[in-house]
Amino acid sequence: MADAPHRKIVLGVTGGIAAYKAAELTRELVRRGCDVQVVMTEAARGFVTPETFQALSGNPVHTEMWASRAPDTMAHIALTRGRDAIVIAPATADFIAKLAHGFADDLLSALCVARACPLLVAPAMNREMWANPATRRNVEQLARDGVAMLGPASGDQACGEVGMGRMLEAAEIADALAAYLAPKLLPGVRVLVTAGPTFEAIDPVRGITNRSSGKMGYAIARAAAEAGATVTLVSGPTGLAVPRGVRRTDAVSAREMFEAVKRHVAQADIFVAVAAVADYRPAAPRAHKIKRDGRALTVTLEPNPDILAWVARRPRPPFCVGFAAESEDLARNAEAKRRAKRVPLVAANLAQDAIGADESELVLFDDEGRHELARAPKDALARRLIAHVARLYGRAGKRKS
Ligand code: CTP
Repeated sequence: MADAPHRKIVLGVTGGIAAYKAAELTRELVRRGCDVQVVMTEAARGFVTPETFQALSGNPVHTEMWASRAPDTMAHIALTRGRDAIVIAPATADFIAKLAHGFADDLLSALCVARACPLLVAPAMNREMWANPATRRNVEQLARDGVAMLGPASGDQACGEVGMGRMLEAAEIADALAAYLAPKLLPGVRVLVTAGPTFEAIDPVRGITNRSSGKMGYAIARAAAEAGATVTLVSGPTGLAVPRGVRRTDAVSAREMFEAVKRHVAQADIFVAVAAVADYRPAAPRAHKIKRDGRALTVTLEPNPDILAWVARRPRPPFCVGFAAESEDLARNAEAKRRAKRVPLVAANLAQDAIGADESELVLFDDEGRHELARAPKDALARRLIAHVARLYGRAGKRKS
């Protein structure tokens, strides 16, 4: 990932044990040429001293809203002006709750509310705190407000438990920030994405579906929007919030998804088919609930349309990207799929590894061969995939008029 020279960053440190990693992050950002202004909450000072950050950043550390020694008593406004971004690392569950509700009762929360630059948040908390419904709501709210979430990752936690909630490593946060602030790779390019599963009704209360959380497709839609694209997301049933700046059309069955894609495809420059579309649907769904009578039941299935193959075979197709979730023999199956569907790029992963997870790894197959995108949070992976797509798309010169 490219460095971000001369970026001006406010680094907000809140009170969690991961505050020590913020010291490392300060060093990493300074090493990459950033000017880092650290602001600490009172609780953060219980973990690391301001002097540590002052020494590492080379700038005085701000802690108080109305510090009499500060030359500018409107620090909560002045500190963010002329800055490229605010990064909160670590962000505790408590601070995320404050952000979600717009509280401004200390210097750091006040300058987040008063900011005129992007806000990026690297959560760090115990896994139960991360899974708590209140935290889930707050995180969803921040996504809707356009706040970028960096992580968290799963693994060993300071409390001795293992799970989701660990703060990303300093280098990962610095990478994500560089990507976020990077030049827009797809300015004004129209991107159509399918995501999530489809659901095929057997009767009014039952159906067949594929296992898919939609997280990868949503991350790709978000990454494309961050890269400056105009993004339409055709989504099967998921519980995910629409990424900021993305237009979503909902679909339940494969046929509904196909109809939605047909409506939008003529305006698409790039089509990314991430959805786990059910290959078959019940041939004759019942109008009324099937009653149990103890006998064997046969449901006849008929094939669904292959949306990606249909799009790729259009007279002037958009640049098509397919996904392949394989349970074995990744390279052979993905290449076969790429040829069969006639798409220039297929992103493959191991299904058992990726479904529902927040992290994954991908192997890309295109005319040049094979490119590995190492294990990372799906958001980071999606940004790298979009960078790759932008390169191929630029070369293909496929932009429609
Ligand atoms: N796809 C699609 N419409 C379908 C089926 C799949 O658009 N009816 C897209 C998916 O979104 C994905 C790719 O095609 O981009 C997956 O290819 P597919 O051959 O369907 O994968 P599998 O269903 O996993 O194939 P198989 O069961 O043969 O492994």
